[in-house]
Amino acid sequence: MKNIILVVDDDKTNLMRAQKLLSPQYRIAACNSGNAALKYLEEHRPDLILLDINMPEMDGFEVMEKLRCSGNTENIPVIFLTADNLAETEVKCFQMGAMDFVAKPFVPDILLSRVAKTIELDQYRHNLERMVQEQADKITEDTRRLNMIQDSVIVGMANLIESRDGSTGKHVKNTQTYVRMIAEELRGRKLFPEELSEEYIEDLCKAAPLHDVGKIKVSDAILQKPGKLTPEEFDEMKLHTTYSRKIIKTIIGDIEDEHYVRIVEDIAMYHHERWDGTGYPAGLTGEGIPLSARIMAVADVFDALYEERCYKPPVRPIERIMQIMSEGRGTQFDPNIIDVFMEMLPALKEVLHIQSEQKGTVTWLGGETDSQRKDI
Ligand SMILES: [Fe+2]
Repeated sequence: MKNIILVVDDDKTNLMRAQKLLSPQYRIAACNSGNAALKYLEEHRPDLILLDINMPEMDGFEVMEKLRCSGNTENIPVIFLTADNLAETEVKCFQMGAMDFVAKPFVPDILLSRVAKTIELDQYRHNLERMVQEQADKITEDTRRLNMIQDSVIVGMANLIESRDGSTGKHVKNTQTYVRMIAEELRGRKLFPEELSEEYIEDLCKAAPLHDVGKIKVSDAILQKPGKLTPEEFDEMKLHTTYSRKIIKTIIGDIEDEHYVRIVEDIAMYHHERWDGTGYPAGLTGEGIPLSARIMAVADVFDALYEERCYKPPVRPIERIMQIMSEGRGTQFDPNIIDVFMEMLPALKEVLHIQSEQKGTVTWLGGETDSQRKDI
């Protein structure tokens, strides 16, 4: 298929000469003014424009300016045609983005050669852009797949570890869901604006499944023990936080995303800290506890109360869980976060109802949790 060339010149003789010369190899569209050319370009996309500079009403430079302002025409290559052989005119042509410059009256072989080269060059540019775009798309897709695999490995590994203490296997996904809900609600209310960016929330959600990874080093006898732990056993249980951080340093400490690594470490290490300083392992207080860990603490305790474990039945109804958690306002939990969390009851009910419906089982068992048991 022939390439299309738009020739714009107010001189009819020049138009006809160009048409006669170029038409054996190209399809030619001819316009005798800048306005006519712009109108033509509203509905057509030629492969090249031969543009006369000296025209009445709108000169070639003005036409060029308008072409470069429109997304539809900005990339069409332009060769200026002019009888003016001044060096400054030539410089201006290139400054305005022309691909080339041909003096009038044009020498047929020179015009043919420049037209052919300009079209060829533009096609190379197009191909190169397409290849770059294809490579960029491929990299994006590869990265997406890699992230997906990485996320499933993390969640799978975390699930495996969680399943050792007799939990239902839902804890990892559930806490991740609650962490996202809480973080987005806080962001929506413009709380913690300096930290809670979209990127922070994404990293937080990716980090959440790893919060208890250190439990892999805690013995089955403790994890699966029905009833209360002895003080010594509880001390060993507490170590899962520092174990988590060490494991995380080993498995992801080398990745370059410092922001993500920091959040994972903070969550793992400090999700059992309490607002009043009586938590573990470091006894941090208030805002000295990283925000990620303060959010994780709320999600973690909520799920621990809601779900059944080998050592406790689930707490029901959900309002009772909210009441228990509200009692931890300002002692166990960040008061700002717990206040917002209390208002999230309808959203939590909605999420849990959907999950329950999908499973086809909604059980409302009585009973309480022992809030001193294990890692709640
Ligand atoms: Fe924990």
